[in-house]
Amino acid sequence: MGSSSNVPTFVFITGANKGLGLESVKKLAAEQPNFHIFLGSRSLEKGTQAANSITARAQGTTVEPIELDVNDDSSISEAVKYIGDKYGRLDVLLNNAGIMMIPGLSFREEMTKVIETNAISAACVTEAFLPLMKKSQAPRLLFMSSNFGSITYCLDSTQPFYGYDAKPYFTSKAAMNMIGAQYAVQLGKDGFKVNMVDSGFRSTNLNGFHELGGVPSEGVLEACRLIVDTDKNGQHGTFTSNEKQHPW
Ligand SMILES: NC(=O)c1ccc[n+]([C@@H]2O[C@H](COP(=O)([O-])OP(=O)(O)OC[C@H]3O[C@@H](n4cnc5c(N)ncnc54)[C@H](OP(=O)(O)O)[C@@H]3O)[C@@H](O)[C@H]2O)c1
Repeated sequence: MGSSSNVPTFVFITGANKGLGLESVKKLAAEQPNFHIFLGSRSLEKGTQAANSITARAQGTTVEPIELDVNDDSSISEAVKYIGDKYGRLDVLLNNAGIMMIPGLSFREEMTKVIETNAISAACVTEAFLPLMKKSQAPRLLFMSSNFGSITYCLDSTQPFYGYDAKPYFTSKAAMNMIGAQYAVQLGKDGFKVNMVDSGFRSTNLNGFHELGGVPSEGVLEACRLIVDTDKNGQHGTFTSNEKQHPW
């Protein structure tokens, strides 16, 4: 559904109560008319606060907080049922919710939790929303990945982060890329556009608001560009950031 028509475009962004998710909602809400944006948050209270903080809205555009813990199947089912019953379809899903590390856990526990949240749960959320997305005229499925998920970069000693040890996170994003690639191949024939996006290094809660990270608003340009792209022959099966296409 193009934003030029009065037919609403339904967009769900997971983990959107802060950081890059919230920045994506803000940008879309301010610029895209007739969007209905579901602001996913595992805490409804935080999601509601975040939604209330968004004051700039294009004509006909609304932001609705929805409780969704990506690691909780009943939370996922409730969100899907609510949207299905009330709105009947979903046009865009951005799997954005993510974590980087969990201090205090054993290595096994941390590997399990980070990979579950960033990769397995993104797949489970996608599976659950697929029936509603198949009702869209222009379904777009996006994964907020990271250049840390590129195996090519990991092995490249010229990369600035070469040797950085964050096995749970790097592995989770490599897995997320494969999940996205599987969906790209399987859903492309049904008219889906499926892409993996890297925000670039941005100063957010994820990295303790690192002083070298760029501003979050610039980290969502690529995701938002793909969210609004309804071209049937448009970008599909790619892994890109604002600047370039990344190697897998
Ligand atoms: N920042 C960067 O430099 C960077 C670079 C590349 C990719 N990314 C990716 O961008 C995405 C967003 O990260 P960010 O930088 O914006 O970090 P952030 O500010 O920490 O935001 C992460 C979001 O994910 C949510 N979340 C975590 N676990 C969840 C769960 N089980 N269910 C639902 N929501 C959950 C958080 O909710 P709570 O508030 O409840 O914790 C929060 O809303 C992540 O996938 C990250 O890997 C970030």
